[in-house]
Amino acid sequence: MNETTNPKIVIAIDGHSSCGKSTVAKELAKALGYIYLDSGAMYRAVTLFALKNGLAANGQVNEPELIARLPEITIEFRLNPASRQNETYLNGENVEEEIRRLPVSTHVSPVATIREVREATVKQQQAMGKNKGIVMDGRDIGTAVFPEAELKIFMTASPEVRAQRRYDELIGKGQQVSFEEILHNVEERDRIDSGREVSPLRKADDALILDNSYLNRDEQLDWALQKAREVIRNLGVVNIE
Ligand code: CDP
Repeated sequence: MNETTNPKIVIAIDGHSSCGKSTVAKELAKALGYIYLDSGAMYRAVTLFALKNGLAANGQVNEPELIARLPEITIEFRLNPASRQNETYLNGENVEEEIRRLPVSTHVSPVATIREVREATVKQQQAMGKNKGIVMDGRDIGTAVFPEAELKIFMTASPEVRAQRRYDELIGKGQQVSFEEILHNVEERDRIDSGREVSPLRKADDALILDNSYLNRDEQLDWALQKAREVIRNLGVVNIE
């Protein structure tokens, strides 16, 4: 296999919360030698900034104040050499673990509806993808960030399956959560993400659907990798495996 010399493409993975987008995206990027970018981490980092600065609480966000303070926010991804994974930094501080906690999850969707927040993050995401060779996951990657992406995947699974996966993940990390609150959060984020005015979550017309309710990790990776290799092959390269 000689994939590093093949033309690089952009792979956009969108879909509902907690359906395993980041798992597929990370594994796909690793298999292809691509960069993985978690766009949701950027919305989560902005949300953490809001929470830490008293601009979000009890499900409410102080929009005008957050918009005014956006210039104070710097988000970066830095490679952790030990894990070989990118980690999210907010104003120089590693927040990778903190942004996955429930307080951020319960405020992130309202924050992500703010037009100015989206404009700033989308601009940064587009800059990160300009050289291609990237797998990005989120809600609007195939529709708004990279409408020209060579491969678009729309992932979904039932809310119960997704809540169970997220519950297992958080319990595994030692966090105190109940299945009911996770299910509620998953359903609430679906509702806000799909209903918002700016770049709502929707399947791009040319996206392929991956419902992984009954697929395991290896099966979903095989599926995605096969699609990616097909696209790369169709770009005119035969020497792919
Ligand atoms: O991991 P999970 O799919 O649950 O969520 P995430 O990718 O970390 O994204 C967190 C939240 O950020 C989503 O529920 C959306 O409200 C928002 N988001 C967005 O609006 N646009 C994106 N491209 C990515 C995330």
